[in-house]
Amino acid sequence: MNMIFFTRSPIMLLQCIAATVVCACLIPQNASGQFVSVDLESEPLQYSKTQASNRISKLVEALSNESISWKFEDKKEYLKALLEHLDISETSQVLVFSKTSMQVQHISPRNPRAIYFNDDTYVGWIHGSSLVEISTNDPKLGAAFYTLRMTSSAPRFRQETYQCLGCHATTMTKGVPGHTVRSGFPNYDGIFDVKREAFVTDETSDFKERWGGWYVTGEHGDLRHMGNAYLRSGTLDTLRNGNRQTLDEFFDTSNYLTPHSDIQALMVLEHQTQMHNTFTRADFSVRSMLHEHADQDESERAVQLRMIAKDIVDRLLFCNEFALSAPVKSSSEFGQFFMARGPADSLGRSLREFDMRTRMFKYPLSYLIYSEAFDALQPLLRDEVCQQLRQIFDCENLSREYSHLTNELRQQIREIVLATKPDILQLRSGDS
Ligand code: HEC
Repeated sequence: MNMIFFTRSPIMLLQCIAATVVCACLIPQNASGQFVSVDLESEPLQYSKTQASNRISKLVEALSNESISWKFEDKKEYLKALLEHLDISETSQVLVFSKTSMQVQHISPRNPRAIYFNDDTYVGWIHGSSLVEISTNDPKLGAAFYTLRMTSSAPRFRQETYQCLGCHATTMTKGVPGHTVRSGFPNYDGIFDVKREAFVTDETSDFKERWGGWYVTGEHGDLRHMGNAYLRSGTLDTLRNGNRQTLDEFFDTSNYLTPHSDIQALMVLEHQTQMHNTFTRADFSVRSMLHEHADQDESERAVQLRMIAKDIVDRLLFCNEFALSAPVKSSSEFGQFFMARGPADSLGRSLREFDMRTRMFKYPLSYLIYSEAFDALQPLLRDEVCQQLRQIFDCENLSREYSHLTNELRQQIREIVLATKPDILQLRSGDS
């Protein structure tokens, strides 16, 4: 368990209260069970002094060289152009109607906030607001945050820090600059009932706890979720909330790029947000360990590194994933777009292939092994993660948390990795 500390300005305190969680420091637990406190602004992290290098900063550069530009026609067209430049498919659209983020004055069940994403970048857009919110994975910053005003002048992205970190570097995001999907009990106006627990959800969450405050389209048999529902006389009205193909009765879907808030996109978003946070948390922990304990004993460091890397490995391998008891079917083309991104091996097998009958993916090793976030992990940490993965692929006697990985499945995953990301399987000099 991690302790949560808070050491920021009053402004941040207010925002943190809004998010009901507080943390500006990452507190990784070291091998002997003590806590090491890491401030985002201290060495070696220095969040606000660090040069950003990510999909948005590259787009900003391209815009300043005038190699690209786009025109303001209307806000929907503007959003389309933005998504195109960021290589984000509109099929990734999911809709959240709870007043849980920054622009609460615009968000309601009749005017939900749309979120679009690809493997590294998330865009939040609200009909009726000219401010677009963007978060993106950045190898040094974990998550970097931007706003963009949709106006007729040339697009100008503004990099943001504490306005966003007040919520986006809290327990919702594992204490590091990150991303989140949250579920709670909304009233008819979209405000969560504060007396009830809200959950950060991911691939391990029970469906029963997911998507309170979100719209959900698609089929899921007799599995129950909290989406498409408000509190009525103290209980969530879930009589007709499931297995919906359209949301027309809730709001005007023509205001959005698609009429969907696809269940499969929501499930991918939940995994991806917490996978990103897990990468960042582990990376920050190792950077801090190397900085603060430069003279640390080798064997002590190895133990600590093993523990930090295991967090990544277990999430990459979908340990403790919620077992689906009914098939889940997308309402949109999200799945096709997602899978088409590949890569696939010569037999056409890909880590992006969905199962959606008993679990999310056919081959449970996260497609985020292909991401820059994975490759940019501290070399020591990345090596340790690869080594643990190799051991799990080859081991005869697996421990219980990996019991979902049958021999056949491990063999198939190993073959896909060999064809598509072979460096993970390569031994370091000195390894046996
Ligand atoms: C009051 C808390 C709060 C503040 C402040 C806030 N956010 Fe968020 N943000 C959330 C929550 C909670 C979510 C999860 C979706 C939801 O409930 O709307 C979220 C989701 C997002 C997402 C979708 C990806 C994800 O993490 O799920 C983006 C993009 C985003 N926020 C950008 C920003 C940016 C940029 C800022 C600063 C300009 C910001 N946010 C400020 C609470 C906040």
